[in-house]
Amino acid sequence: MSEIKTLFNVIGPISIAVTIPWIIFKMFCTVWLKKGYNNLVGKVVVITGASSGLGEALAHEFYKHGAQVVLCARRRQELERVRTDLLHSHSKDMTHPPIIIPLDLNEPSELQNHVDKILSITGRIDILVNNGGISHRGTVNDTTLEVHRQIMSVNYFGALALTKAVLVDMLKNKKGQIVFISSVQGLVALPERSAYSASKHALQAFSDSLRAEIASSNISVSVISPGYIKTKLSLNALTGSGKAHGQMDATTESGYSPEYAAEQIVKAVVQKKKEIVLSTLLPQVAILLRKYMPLLYYIVMERRAKKLEQQKQFQNVMGKNQ
Ligand SMILES: NC(=O)c1ccc[n+]([C@@H]2O[C@H](COP(=O)([O-])OP(=O)(O)OC[C@H]3O[C@@H](n4cnc5c(N)ncnc54)[C@H](OP(=O)(O)O)[C@@H]3O)[C@@H](O)[C@H]2O)c1
Repeated sequence: MSEIKTLFNVIGPISIAVTIPWIIFKMFCTVWLKKGYNNLVGKVVVITGASSGLGEALAHEFYKHGAQVVLCARRRQELERVRTDLLHSHSKDMTHPPIIIPLDLNEPSELQNHVDKILSITGRIDILVNNGGISHRGTVNDTTLEVHRQIMSVNYFGALALTKAVLVDMLKNKKGQIVFISSVQGLVALPERSAYSASKHALQAFSDSLRAEIASSNISVSVISPGYIKTKLSLNALTGSGKAHGQMDATTESGYSPEYAAEQIVKAVVQKKKEIVLSTLLPQVAILLRKYMPLLYYIVMERRAKKLEQQKQFQNVMGKNQ
């Protein structure tokens, strides 16, 4: 009995010494986060790929917190639909109506003009979210050079050119935030996604260089690497010949909701996180395998490639027999 009493006498003060600072730390984090969300009020946030999926959800999340969102993508009609949705689904007190700027990330030479137009309306850009992108389905052998170029052009050169165009003003103002929506596939490459994985790996490297260069100008860089999100990404992915894949993959279908992903991303932006991986356990394990046990990663990916090949052969046979 006296031993138990002694144990309590030891554990009691230790747990109090750990718990009280932990509660204070958590309270500090909550207050700091709330302040960060409050700071979004009136911020000019440019979002590419805002006509669907994650970009659309990000527009809602930033707008909900009082930001002035600038919606960019190719399809004007879809951007107008998103703007109408924003105006109808949130508080009538929002004082910054969303702005629409149709643009094509595959036309990098035009992007400076689009940025100039945004600046002529808003006067500044506080946050740039490079989200617009396309995915890929096909082996290296079956994919034309043109498709490789197109995916690199939209996902990498498009984001790069837009960032450069926005950076001039941010450097002048000595403040700003640049966000890149990369992917888990920017950290681990998968078979039959070579163009997509390569474009996202390029984004990761570009961001690391950029972050270091502009840190002294009070401009932060956040890289977000999501796993699967339930959007139209796989439907719009380009096959080896450049056609739309047109299928909702089971992995994408079972992914996070765009709304949940957007909530987590805006939280990371508010916290000025340098990078986050937004995924379930399996992709996180794959990232660790690639880094610390590459031999095992090579074996797993070889098996995956073989399985994909067998699935295609099976589908071909079934198609011929019908
Ligand atoms: N869904 C996932 O599982 C997942 C996972 C990791 C990362 N991501 C990343 O999340 C981002 C958003 O994709 P999503 O999942 O929301 O797919 P999505 O629903 O297909 O949306 C893609 C967006 O990119 C825009 N876009 C495509 N090509 C463009 C171009 N040439 N110029 C300008 N905009 C263009 C599209 O708009 P327009 O067609 O109107 O131009 C659309 O708004 C992408 O960067 C993707 O790589 C997605």
